[in-house]
Amino acid sequence: MIRDIVVKETRVSLSVITLDDYGQALENKIRERLQAAGAEDVHIRIRPANEHERSKILGDHERKTDKDKLVKGHAAGLERNELLNDPDVHFIAVASGKGGVGKSTVTVNLAAALARQGKRVGLIDADIYGFSVPDMMGIEEGPVVENELIVPVERFGVKVMSMGFFIRENSPVVWRGPMLGKMLHQFFADVNWGELDYLLLDLPPGTGDIALDVHQMLPHSKEIIVTTPHATAAFVAARAGAMAIQTNHEILGVVENMAYYECSHCGEKDFVFGRGGGGQLAETLHTELLAQLPLGAPDNHISEPDFSPSVYKSESASGRIYNELAAGIIAKCEK
Ligand SMILES: Nc1ncnc2c1ncn2[C@@H]1O[C@H](COP(=O)(O)OP(=O)(O)OP(=O)(O)O)[C@@H](O)[C@H]1O
Ligand SMILES: [Mg+2]
Repeated sequence: MIRDIVVKETRVSLSVITLDDYGQALENKIRERLQAAGAEDVHIRIRPANEHERSKILGDHERKTDKDKLVKGHAAGLERNELLNDPDVHFIAVASGKGGVGKSTVTVNLAAALARQGKRVGLIDADIYGFSVPDMMGIEEGPVVENELIVPVERFGVKVMSMGFFIRENSPVVWRGPMLGKMLHQFFADVNWGELDYLLLDLPPGTGDIALDVHQMLPHSKEIIVTTPHATAAFVAARAGAMAIQTNHEILGVVENMAYYECSHCGEKDFVFGRGGGGQLAETLHTELLAQLPLGAPDNHISEPDFSPSVYKSESASGRIYNELAAGIIAKCEK
């Protein structure tokens, strides 16, 4: 029931959610305890629990008092369902028709941009065979296990989970359909995501098994479709869009990646992969074109402490487009 704890030297601020009107007495008690522990400057915000929090807290309480029911696996199952059914979490799957159009690049950069805007963001690399997120974000460490739950690795303020964490030496993944679905389930059930505002899923290309699993597991998920400007890519991507529509997933919009090359000398735009694919796809899917990203790798150096091969800096041209994309997504999801 305590949220948003921030400790800065001897200054402590936190929020408390209450079920009943404890008000001042509770605040005094917390302040007393914190001061006794050495906090000099204490800021406490108290607010009543909303309906969702109330049922969650009461549910937790019932579970704690009824220890018999708290058998292993069962608890994990509940955790999973809590995240999946949490109406406050916005699930966004990033899909495409073709491979290699930049889904993973768009997913990691959108995730980082949402985190820069203060959102609590998780990212599932649902491309079980073709995982690439850890490398793209420059993650070198693996996750740790605490209380039988996997703690996701945090990078650029984003909590990341990927099959790549569990595969040694980049050996290929040879599992088949049912196993893959199980893996995805475990990314929800066995991972301690904490509180999230957004959970992004980087889907494998096309409309295969995993994409279908995600559609079924996350009935509330929204989707972003990534395409290149080429007419054929957009045509193929329309199938991914059609699948989203069939499974009742709301399409947030289309992102056109590798839209143009901008000359660093004269600033002129060259449409090297053709033109209009993104707009055309958005029209076909009755949605909007959310962003157009230029060609160009991020200007990052391996010597930098937060080096990553694929995350654009906030102040770069692409970084700014991702910031705008994130702001647009927030406006759409939280309206
Ligand atoms: N705007 C861009 N400019 C230059 N290179 C890019 C751009 N977007 C992506 N790339 C590069 O293109 C390649 C494919 O991108 P990415 O892996 O994001 O695509 P994907 O759709 O996730 O691919 P897959 O279908 O294999 O999962 C990567 O090497 C990536 O670094
Ligand atoms: Mg990918």
